[in-house]
Amino acid sequence: MKVLLAGGAGYIGSHTAVQLLRAGHEVVIVDDFSNSSPEAIRRVEELGGKKVVSYEADVKDKEKVRQIFRENDIDCVIHFAGLKAVGESVRLPLKYYRNNIDTTLTLLECMEEAGCTRFVFSSSATVYGEENDPPYVETMKRGSCSNPYGWTKVMMEEILEDAAKANPKLTVILLRYFNPIGAHESGRIGEDPQGIPNNLMPYIAQVAVGRRDHLTVFGGDYPTPDGTCLRDYIHVMDLADGHVKAVEYAENHRGVEIFNLGTGTPYSVLDIIKAFESATGVKVKYEIGPRRAGDLPKFWADSAKAQKVLGWKTKRSLEDMCRDTWKWQKNNPMGYGK
Ligand code: UFG
Repeated sequence: MKVLLAGGAGYIGSHTAVQLLRAGHEVVIVDDFSNSSPEAIRRVEELGGKKVVSYEADVKDKEKVRQIFRENDIDCVIHFAGLKAVGESVRLPLKYYRNNIDTTLTLLECMEEAGCTRFVFSSSATVYGEENDPPYVETMKRGSCSNPYGWTKVMMEEILEDAAKANPKLTVILLRYFNPIGAHESGRIGEDPQGIPNNLMPYIAQVAVGRRDHLTVFGGDYPTPDGTCLRDYIHVMDLADGHVKAVEYAENHRGVEIFNLGTGTPYSVLDIIKAFESATGVKVKYEIGPRRAGDLPKFWADSAKAQKVLGWKTKRSLEDMCRDTWKWQKNNPMGYGK
């Protein structure tokens, strides 16, 4: 299939692009490089062994997106082009609502004009909200989020479900990611956050490489075995494989399907620090600080549905996640160097 990756130069998009190419699909990328680098696309081509067609454009720009559909016979869209910094979304809610929702609507409208009927969406475990207890199952009702970023994901899921209800030809796959970490095993592509990392693993990696002095662990008094939060960390290459399965599933199915993409195994923040140290031999200086507003104490996936319906199973261990993160960070201390 020919797959359009909106935001395909970013962290999850670039890893998915490699796996799509390796599975024999064609890849078209549109990205405005606001939180990514064109260098990632060059490396995707190197790892995927094939060229990709790429456009530098804002996915809210309808004329440009129309042109992309005119110039390419797109079979399926994967929408990764979202803003994702939770704290920033609290400060700049309008920017988040405008960007995340407008990009989704623009893609849907252009797909309708072009007769493209398959949409795979980067959703998040955050949509389960505060009301649901782990493990999260796809049949649970969406909950309430503590921040605008999370609400954009909830709203976009609803928009996509309504669009599919109104158009029986449309296939929508909502992929709810848990906590993606790690990098391609070659160390050529990986996560390259701009400025101070918001997320745990890139922060640990930057402490390990000497770019930051120490990690602050946000809260040591949660009701968990070691007092730090529990999360379901998933290797980004397993996540990428999940997208390939979703795209192939969408080829022959109609309607909306939701899949959790997680391992089903929770780890604490201290588990991650220890695993990183033992996989890499590098010490990570840390101190326990106050809780971060909005963090839930614990959540992880029930991943049975993706296993059963997509035939997808995670293959990579926590050790792999730490080793591959470190290979990327060590070989690219300043990321893509943008
Ligand atoms: N953490 C620290 N120190 C840091 C960064 C994180 O202790 O410097 C802790 C957090 O408190 C949390 C854990 O590490 O306990 C994981 O935090 P991340 O920021 O890496 O990930 P979150 O679970 O907070 O966020 C992820 C995604 C969001 C999504 C959210 C809920 O990044 O997109 O899960 O699904 F909204």
